Amino acid sequence: MDTDTIETVFVAGASGDTGRHLLRLLDRRVPTVRALTRSAERTSELRSLGADEVVVDDLLDPDEDDLAGALADTDVVLSAVGSDATDVLGSGPYVDGEGTVALLEAAVDAGVAAFVMESAIGVGDEPASRLATAFDVAIRPLQAAKATAEAAIRDANVRHTVLRPGVLTNGPRTDTTSVAEPGAKLWGAVSRADVARLMAAAPVTDAAADRTFEVVSEPAFPGRSLSVDWRLPGRDDADVPVRTE
Ligand SMILES: NC(=O)c1ccc[n+]([C@@H]2O[C@H](COP(=O)([O-])OP(=O)(O)OC[C@H]3O[C@@H](n4cnc5c(N)ncnc54)[C@H](OP(=O)(O)O)[C@@H]3O)[C@@H](O)[C@H]2O)c1
Repeated sequence: MDTDTIETVFVAGASGDTGRHLLRLLDRRVPTVRALTRSAERTSELRSLGADEVVVDDLLDPDEDDLAGALADTDVVLSAVGSDATDVLGSGPYVDGEGTVALLEAAVDAGVAAFVMESAIGVGDEPASRLATAFDVAIRPLQAAKATAEAAIRDANVRHTVLRPGVLTNGPRTDTTSVAEPGAKLWGAVSRADVARLMAAAPVTDAAADRTFEVVSEPAFPGRSLSVDWRLPGRDDADVPVRTE
C-alpha cells in the first residue's frame, strides 16, 4: 500500500495502553481513525486522543451487522486487544484468540487491505528465548489463544503483519527497536509507543508484508535483527523515518 492511500484505519484495543499511542500517532496522519471499545463511556476520551469515530462492540460477542458496517470502508485494521492477565484463571474464550479471529473474519469479508496484530514473544512453535518461555508458562492459555489467531491471520486472504513484542513498558518512543524472524530468540523490553509506531507503519512498509516479527528495544540485537525501513501513512514530514537494524 502507498503511504498516501490509507483513508480509514480501524483500531481495536484503542482504549488500551498500545491503542492510545496508535490514536495519537494516527490522528493527523490519516483522514479517519475509527476506535473500538466495549464501553460507550469511553467515547469522549477516545475522541480526545484522536479517534474520529468510536465503535462500541465486544469482539467476544459482536453485533455482526454493526461490526461489518464499521469495517465496510476500512483500509487497515490494527489490533492491540488483549485479555487481562487475571483472565488466565478462567477458561476463556479470549479476545486474544476467538475475539481476534472474529475481527479478522469480519475484516476479510469487508475487503480490508491490511491487518496488523500485536501478539507476544513466545507465541508459536519456534525456538524461544528464556523470556518467551517464561511468558508461555505464566500465561499459557493467552499465548495459545494468540497462536490460534496468528495462524488464522497467516491463512487469511489479507496482507498482514504480526508483531511479537517482548515485555511492554510505558516508556517513551525510542525508534530503536530490533525486529527479527520468529526463532531468533530475541528477549527484552519495548515501549508500547515503539510497538504502536511499527504497527502503524506495517501496512505501508514493503518488508513488513505477510511477515511475523519478534520485537524488542532493550537490549539491542545487532547480529540477529533485520534491517527494515519503516514508513508511516500520511505526510512524510510529520515524523522522522525509522530504520530498525
Ligand atoms: N504486558 C506485556 O508485557 C505484553 C508483552 C507482549 C505482548 N502483550 C500483548 O500486547 C497487546 C496489547 O497490550 P496492552 O497492554 O497495550 O493492552 P491493554 O492496555 O491491556 O488493552 C487491551 C485492550 O483490549 C480491549 N479488549 C479487551 N477485551 C475486548 C473484547 N472482548 N472486545 C473488544 N476489545 C477488547 C480493551 O478495550 P475496552 O476495555 O475499551 O473494551 C483494551 O483497549 C495484548 O495482546 C497483550 O497481551 C503484552
